Amino acid sequence: MKNVSMLALAVCTAGTLFAAEVGDSFLLHTKNTTLALCRQQGSWNVLHYGAKVSSQSDAFALAWNRWAGGNSVSQRRPAAYAAYGGDKDGGYGFNKFGGLQVTHADGCLTLHLVGEKAETLPDETGVTHLVLVQRDRFYPFWVVQHFRALEKCDVIETWIELRNGEDGAVRLGRMDSFAMGFPLIANAFRFQYVTGQWAAEAQLRETSIERGQTVSIGSRSGVRDAWENNASFMLTAGETSSETSGRVFGGVLCWSGSWGISVQRDHCDFVEIRAGADTSAGAYVLDAGKSITLPKFAFTFSSKGKGQISRNIHRWARDWQLPAGSKLRPVLLNSWEGSYFSFTEKVLHDMMDGVKEMGGELFVLDDGWFGTGKYARDDVHKDKVGLGDWVINPEKLPNGLVGLSDEAKARGLKFGFWVEPEMVNTNSWLYEAHPEWVIREKNRPVNVGRGGSQTVLDYSNPAVRQNTYNQLDALYSKILDLAYIKWDANADFYNMGSTYLDAAHQANLPFDYTVGLYDLLAKLRAKYPQVDIQACSSGGGHVDFGFLRYADEFWGSDDSDARERVFIQWGESQFYPACTIAAHVTDVPNHQTHRTTPLKYRFDVAMSARLGFELHPKNMSAEDVAFAKKCVADYKRIRPTVQQGDLYRLVSPYDNNYAALMYVNEEATHAVVFLWGLARGNWSDFVPPLALQGLADDKSYAVKEINVAKGRKHCRVDGRILGGSALGSMGLPVRLSGDYDSAVFELTAK
Ligand code: DGJ
Repeated sequence: MKNVSMLALAVCTAGTLFAAEVGDSFLLHTKNTTLALCRQQGSWNVLHYGAKVSSQSDAFALAWNRWAGGNSVSQRRPAAYAAYGGDKDGGYGFNKFGGLQVTHADGCLTLHLVGEKAETLPDETGVTHLVLVQRDRFYPFWVVQHFRALEKCDVIETWIELRNGEDGAVRLGRMDSFAMGFPLIANAFRFQYVTGQWAAEAQLRETSIERGQTVSIGSRSGVRDAWENNASFMLTAGETSSETSGRVFGGVLCWSGSWGISVQRDHCDFVEIRAGADTSAGAYVLDAGKSITLPKFAFTFSSKGKGQISRNIHRWARDWQLPAGSKLRPVLLNSWEGSYFSFTEKVLHDMMDGVKEMGGELFVLDDGWFGTGKYARDDVHKDKVGLGDWVINPEKLPNGLVGLSDEAKARGLKFGFWVEPEMVNTNSWLYEAHPEWVIREKNRPVNVGRGGSQTVLDYSNPAVRQNTYNQLDALYSKILDLAYIKWDANADFYNMGSTYLDAAHQANLPFDYTVGLYDLLAKLRAKYPQVDIQACSSGGGHVDFGFLRYADEFWGSDDSDARERVFIQWGESQFYPACTIAAHVTDVPNHQTHRTTPLKYRFDVAMSARLGFELHPKNMSAEDVAFAKKCVADYKRIRPTVQQGDLYRLVSPYDNNYAALMYVNEEATHAVVFLWGLARGNWSDFVPPLALQGLADDKSYAVKEINVAKGRKHCRVDGRILGGSALGSMGLPVRLSGDYDSAVFELTAK
């Protein structure tokens, strides 16, 4: 069978020598949380997940027991992984929901899972890796559930492997990675998520989940998985939570394809959380003898509100998920808004000179450098041609990418360039040669998107991926100092079908596409570990922790207006650490919103994430360049704290006409506070003192305002040394006046 997603099931055999069997109950601890599991009537249930519980008998005594109730819904049990079907033969116990639905080779529609084996596997220091092996009572079909408890960040990673030992293919109608009966009892539940659209991604929303309701979010894009909803959420158990209070569960699905997340609350307050790859195109066919690994889901808990959920996931991302989470991200200039498709080598050299002068470290050439002959992506054809032909356009760049990289090097800059490897234009040499390589339906014309000719390559087909790999490898290998790739993706699945997969496996396409994409990314990353990747997909379409296994950062939105970025980055900061959020200072009036904000404001917003530029420096005045130079120098000093520190969101832009947040380094010796006015009401709209968080009570801090423009300061205690405890309780006195006023403060322990 031509199926790339099938992985040999190594679980429970690798490492068996050192594996330790666990009994019928297990407490999985992190620093501040416990997941208490027990085997009841043969299958694994959750007794507790939340703040730490150290005794197994306490967990038993206090565990929720409503699942034992008599009506047809509440008889569900809080399963560690809920499947469609029963948990015992005969009597009550049929779950009509659940995150896994299997149609067996003989047509039977249900699973009856029984715990077969449970053991802890040896793992890195500080990590407990628990494996629960469950098997259907009758069918040779296995569900292997992994949990890795990451002590310091309070995050548990979980993933599922399914193994089909039947003598024919099974069909997976649902194949969620996480399907847990939520064990925290409350009289109210609230669901927070981010949603949006092009140039307005990651808008924060929260909704109550009433009894009888299911709240769900998802994406069926296939590619731009995060453009609308993001595969992440927070669930508050109780009436309310805030940045600093409330019992909150947070989860992220590590997947770049179509996905779904849902929380269902029934009339007996049974809550089931599900997250996983979307199967709306049809059931996934898992052939006899094959196994499949479902995407990872990472979750955390805080009894001190949402801010701690963010900090936990940020730390997890940097320590465990990102390819190089502790590496400081460079200050770069991307050519897109500065020149779009209209550039010559001279234009690009001038940009390099400009960013070098301001202290930048990397130059990135965006779209428009490739395609030849009638398919050259030049000023005339723009985005209508060329995708798929990853060869230089010699008319535009006679000295090629190598020449540009040499020019960058001569200026002491690193070099990177843009590609869109998942895509092809029907106006390209690649498509002319291989029209069968795109995602398409057998007897229908190909639907297209951007430029009237763009569509998606079929990465379930290894030959298609290999072709992209070969083309990129040929480019990468020539540019010796290549440091960065911007990986764009400007289309969805406009079609649904594969000429590679046979008729029986057509519905495997969405899942196998993403597995294929990861295969390509992994190969490139392995051969070129020094080449950082920016995930981009029409802005924020690839903002997910699946892509961020291979990419270092993302372009969170094509909207570069600083005022709108306050909201977008606020939403992204719920789960994504500042080192992953690319934020660029651009020209005014802003190209998307036509709003004009001061240069200082644009810096103050961009410096709260990974700072960059996206403009032509020659359009800047000498005064602006001098200001930019100072900002970049200051950014390099505060960068370790911004990119690697703990985030505290102080004042939300959703509730006020200003916003503030701060970062504190691990030792609490350095902090950076950002304050941004939005459109202000009137002059007397005073900003209350900012009650700072995360500082050490027993330390004193020198307060210094940075990014000061035109001598205007925003704090009457600038230059003073003040106690961490007083700054927390009395707050930092600040002021803003006028629209788009802003301030940045650096606090250094003395
Ligand atoms: C969409 C991206 O989001 C932009 O930043 C830019 O790279 C364009 N594509 C180029 O076509």
